[in-house]
Amino acid sequence: MIRIDEEKRLFDLCTRHTAYQMKADGYGVLLHTYYGPLSGLDGDMSRLIGRADRGFSPNPPDAGEDRTYSLDTLPQEYPGWGTGDLRLPCIQVELADGSAVADLRFTGFERQAGKYALDGLPAFHGEGWETLVIRMEDPVSHLRAALYYAVQEEYDLITRAVRVDNAGASPVRLRQAASACLDLQRADMDLITFDGCHMMERAPSRGALRPGVQAVGSVRGTSSHQHNPFVILCEPGADEDGGLCYGAMLVYSGNFEAAVERSQFETARLVLGINPRGSCFSLAPGEGFTAPEAALICSPDGLGPMSRRLHKAIRNCLVRDPWAGRRRPILLNSWEAAYFDFDAEKLLSIAGEAAALGVELFVLDDGWFGHRDSDDSSLGDWYAYEKKLPGGLKALAGKINDLGMDFGIWIEPEMVSQDSGLYRAHPDWVLAPAGRDPVRGRGQLVLDFTRQDVRDCVFDQLAAALEGVKLAYIKWDMNRSLTGAWSAALSADRQGEVYHRYVLGVYELLERVRAAWPEALIEGCSGGGGRFDAGMLYYTPQIWCSDNNDAIDRLRIQYGTSFAYPVSAMGAHVAPSPSHGNGRVTPIMTRGVVALSGTFGYELDPRTLTDGEKQAVRELNGIYKARWELLHNGDYYRLTDPFRNGPYTAWEQVSPDRDTALVSVVFTACRANHPFYALRLKGLDPAARYRVDGVETYTGGALMAAGLPLPMPWGDYGALLYCLERVNG
Ligand code: GLA
Repeated sequence: MIRIDEEKRLFDLCTRHTAYQMKADGYGVLLHTYYGPLSGLDGDMSRLIGRADRGFSPNPPDAGEDRTYSLDTLPQEYPGWGTGDLRLPCIQVELADGSAVADLRFTGFERQAGKYALDGLPAFHGEGWETLVIRMEDPVSHLRAALYYAVQEEYDLITRAVRVDNAGASPVRLRQAASACLDLQRADMDLITFDGCHMMERAPSRGALRPGVQAVGSVRGTSSHQHNPFVILCEPGADEDGGLCYGAMLVYSGNFEAAVERSQFETARLVLGINPRGSCFSLAPGEGFTAPEAALICSPDGLGPMSRRLHKAIRNCLVRDPWAGRRRPILLNSWEAAYFDFDAEKLLSIAGEAAALGVELFVLDDGWFGHRDSDDSSLGDWYAYEKKLPGGLKALAGKINDLGMDFGIWIEPEMVSQDSGLYRAHPDWVLAPAGRDPVRGRGQLVLDFTRQDVRDCVFDQLAAALEGVKLAYIKWDMNRSLTGAWSAALSADRQGEVYHRYVLGVYELLERVRAAWPEALIEGCSGGGGRFDAGMLYYTPQIWCSDNNDAIDRLRIQYGTSFAYPVSAMGAHVAPSPSHGNGRVTPIMTRGVVALSGTFGYELDPRTLTDGEKQAVRELNGIYKARWELLHNGDYYRLTDPFRNGPYTAWEQVSPDRDTALVSVVFTACRANHPFYALRLKGLDPAARYRVDGVETYTGGALMAAGLPLPMPWGDYGALLYCLERVNG
């Protein structure tokens, strides 16, 4: 609910459990006055903002002789630069005379029905939203900013976006326009970021805020494996089940920065948006720029509830139809089954075996186009490799369909190999400054996706290659970082826009692909989880979580990912053992239990499985078909932290009515003479009785307070999957 006191210029954004308040003060500065539990909001919260004459905190001219008024000490919604606030800004400009002041003051507001949308950018959507737009203007440069706020009461979500317009008579260079700021009047907070590298993504890293600025971000052109555009600020004692937490998520897939400044007076300012490094936008008079959406969530009751509300918001208000909430097919992906070494006959023999085991979708990964026998050729030549696939994709897909399976395909549309017809015909279609040899990554170059003609060419080729194919699935990959972000199609003063225009180009082509194959399930991918962000989830309902398929490493990767993103978004497969990522040997049921808490599928050659393993595959498929709704859409509880190196990792999905629950346990430490372990569950109805695996019954209270006794583990990496059902009466 949005409540407005026009006289006091006070704005309350209330959700089920939280409230957010801002106030335009007498100088038109938009103050941030409160964000926290709903019960904490009472009237004008600006009473909590103290005032004092602080040395070296400058006073704006309109404050006259009042030395206690300084923007350097006031919590604000969209702080500028050159105004006397010497902390992190949200907006930075370069004006025609070379000055750099951005001093935005309140000029008005309006309510809008429902949720605002952003042209060409991903955004939360759906029912149950209210929108408030606050208008700001710099009285000298006439730069305007519209601050968009949308409130989703049910999930405690507040989204923000910003539109900056040059309403002045001179050009403006926009060096930064952040999407959101969270300016808290306290600094005794921990910052949690999600960090890693290729094949080990999104490990939570938590530490107390130190004086000064701490930041994570990306200048790789994607959101990156290294840092995720989701961060948490929380009370030092906050854990899964208690404590005040704030989550901030950027709905964007390119360069970003999340920076937090702990100030001299123990305040904490979080600024989230496109990374100012490598970015600058030219705004001629009348031109504008839209900063991508950010989503804020406050949880007064710990990290677990925060994640569960975010999961619901993503599933119900970000992922779009037809795949939102729909069961994902059990797939088999050819990558770790065959890599580049295949022909139609081999693929059909793999697919035939998979079909016999109950797999529903066959995905042909890399290696099907141009003359691609390794990763150093053919990207950009999107026609079937006749030597491997006589008759093209249509012939292969038809035969796969004849086996009773759907057919899907891997593509990497943003890339080009130097050994390709496309590159030979259009060497200027890559991102690289003229006159310099392009920097390679995985031996490949990046196409200039800021250009419509480049995107059209890729789309037309794909459409021709897929002519006559009943396409059920697309894996959209992206396998290198951007460098030399320079476009031959843009003027010198627009080169600072390349990173962002590239992302807009990716979004535009994704939208076209969605429209051309409306039934196809699209899986995002960037060397696994290099572009795992809310922006992509608007176009691709799921994202390949990591190129690391080892079930034990995956415990950590999927754990870290779960803080923001739901199980239904996490691409996960049962892969070969020993793992191709780290050589570890794990039982197939363990690989299955881990993949079941993801989109679920296989990435191995089923012809190499033993009879026992084939039986396990049938069993896993049965569990997935019977329990997918609970696995994907249930309330997710992290029961242990796999980074603490305990004897096992456990997690749980509970149905919204608390009638059923699935508990997954994977033993990670092998030793002799284990102690007896009891696993305390969460989220059950304490008064209800639950039947565990169809045998014993216990009360929810006992299972949560005293725990479920686990059997003594034996050998490496065993797994357990318990099913709990409420006993009627
Ligand atoms: C990336 C993907 C893998 C696979 C290969 C193919 O690394 O993440 O899953 O598709 O590319 O080259």
